[in-house]
Amino acid sequence: MDILELMIQQHHEAVALFETFAEAPDDERPELAIQLAEALTLHLTIEERWIYPIARRAVGEEALAYAEEEHDALKRLILTMLRARNDLPALGDAVRELEQAVREHAQQEERAVLPRLGARATEQGLGLSCADIVKRAAEFRREALREQGGEPWA
Ligand SMILES: [Fe+2]
Ligand SMILES: [Fe+2]
Repeated sequence: MDILELMIQQHHEAVALFETFAEAPDDERPELAIQLAEALTLHLTIEERWIYPIARRAVGEEALAYAEEEHDALKRLILTMLRARNDLPALGDAVRELEQAVREHAQQEERAVLPRLGARATEQGLGLSCADIVKRAAEFRREALREQGGEPWA
């Protein structure tokens, strides 16, 4: 698997988690919100650290600035969702809003960004396997959380 396939797979996994959330009983929803936050944060970290630096050359500064704004919006929605996780009606609204944004993110990226990266996004181009990237992204994420004083939702 290369990193483009991994990004698309993570988009699909996120959409599947939203579908699980929609059908889940109330008492399972707060835990699913945490799973969603973790999966999406890992995904955004991988893109920001490994995809966007090479995308900058492939798609140009303007498209990248748009993608970065989109990430900021997604992070705000993730935080709103986490803060709402013990208030089920508010959680439902927050998850719906996040789902819409994630679906747009996935569609836009799969259409306009990922197909244009070419050989830069292969294992050789990046100098790292997908497994290594996932491992490092998880470390970056843990470090960022530690700097913020621990899990924001703990
Ligand atoms: Fe992205
Ligand atoms: Fe993405």
